[in-house]
Amino acid sequence: MNIADILIDHAFCEQKAATKCITLIVKYPDCDFLVDTLSPVVTEEWGHFQAVLKEMKKRDIQLTHKRKDEYVTQLDKCKRGDGTRYDQLMEDCLVFALIEARSAERFKLLSEHISDQTLSKFYHELMIAEALHYRNFIEIAEQYNPKEKVRRRWEELLVQEAEIMKNLEVREDRFH
Ligand SMILES: [Fe+2]
Ligand SMILES: [Fe+2]
Repeated sequence: MNIADILIDHAFCEQKAATKCITLIVKYPDCDFLVDTLSPVVTEEWGHFQAVLKEMKKRDIQLTHKRKDEYVTQLDKCKRGDGTRYDQLMEDCLVFALIEARSAERFKLLSEHISDQTLSKFYHELMIAEALHYRNFIEIAEQYNPKEKVRRRWEELLVQEAEIMKNLEVREDRFH
């Protein structure tokens, strides 16, 4: 496992998480619950970005180019473009919830298997944070849509995601 590639990829995942939360706030500024829930998440994700940079500096690793995230690109294509504004909000939130949930799973695996003790502890803390973000996005979706509708769409997205995963190249240097 190449720790430099993992950390660089991870740094950009945190940057994208912060950027996407800001995008959602700008897209749905009138949705108080969304704005109130995601504002602190932006700060948290940017804190994660800074924490990854710190770990990189300690190891003399330079932040290089950002790669295209095929998993996220494909998931974004699953979003339905029809329906009401709150339907759109649900699509946005459920895709983010999925990305956060998978990040939490990946951090769990990394924390359990990485030999570097500092990074193991770091990834354990991140696992907890990203699992909470997953809950945040589900709660926002449920705030503006009936719970049953959110649950049904979640089940559909899991099936769509499984299809995406079947066709994705498996790489050990990436988060997704
Ligand atoms: Fe994060
Ligand atoms: Fe997150």
